[in-house]
Amino acid sequence: MKNQVILITGSSSGIGRETAYRFASEGAKLVLTYYKGKTRGERVEKKCRGLGAADTLLINLNVMDNKSIASTVVKVQKKYGRIDLLINNAGTGVFLPLKDQTVRDIEIQLRTNLEGLIKVTRAFLPFIRKGIINIASFLGKHAGSELATYCASKYGVRGFTQSVAEEYPGLIICSVNPDETATHLTGYSGRPPSEVADVIFRAASGKIRFKSGGDVDVWKILK
Ligand SMILES: NC(=O)c1ccc[n+]([C@@H]2O[C@H](COP(=O)([O-])OP(=O)(O)OC[C@H]3O[C@@H](n4cnc5c(N)ncnc54)[C@H](OP(=O)(O)O)[C@@H]3O)[C@@H](O)[C@H]2O)c1
Repeated sequence: MKNQVILITGSSSGIGRETAYRFASEGAKLVLTYYKGKTRGERVEKKCRGLGAADTLLINLNVMDNKSIASTVVKVQKKYGRIDLLINNAGTGVFLPLKDQTVRDIEIQLRTNLEGLIKVTRAFLPFIRKGIINIASFLGKHAGSELATYCASKYGVRGFTQSVAEEYPGLIICSVNPDETATHLTGYSGRPPSEVADVIFRAASGKIRFKSGGDVDVWKILK
């Protein structure tokens, strides 16, 4: 991973932050993004440098905003001219019965978790050299009550991942599916995000076998 350019969306907290630390300690060049958490993003960048990242670039990215995606591409292109690995991690969830979810709740989940991920992938595809890891979920394979919109977004991510892998056989592509992980999203209940980050790192470095477009289920790897 030394000197490889790794872009991790949503790296200001949770799974994305721990993934940034894991790649930093291997000497990667990291493109880190935050949405609302500028100070958290700056702290992550500083720690990545301390852990041994070969270089860092911190960008404010809102995956729901087309202009924000376009300007992120320009910044990355200008600094590195390529990325080796795109990790689409940014995501959000509103865990309520469907009747209690507002139209805005529905839009934010689908636009962040699915539409944004698709648009970021499309925008970076010409510059990706090795592969793409999409963070889907256990809830992209198993339905649950009070999770309808979130599940729909994550089932969608897995279908998207499979299709893109067919279109781009030269890239290594997978969905990494975490189960419950202790982050802001879950009220800090579940397994440590560093364990998920390690699975992401192992999938990226060829230490976990998968068919391109397929699933890496965290609960199976860490059982
Ligand atoms: N935690 C779990 O149990 C679990 C299980 C399965 C899958 N996942 C998935 O893992 C991924 C990471 O989630 P997490 O659990 O680590 O949650 P988290 O701690 O809440 O982190 C979410 C990250 O996404 C960023 N983000 C949110 N909306 C965004 C937007 N519109 N544009 C760009 N970035 C945005 C946040 O940025 P700011 O904080 O800067 O606003 C933050 O960095 C998500 O895709 C989630 O669905 C989580």
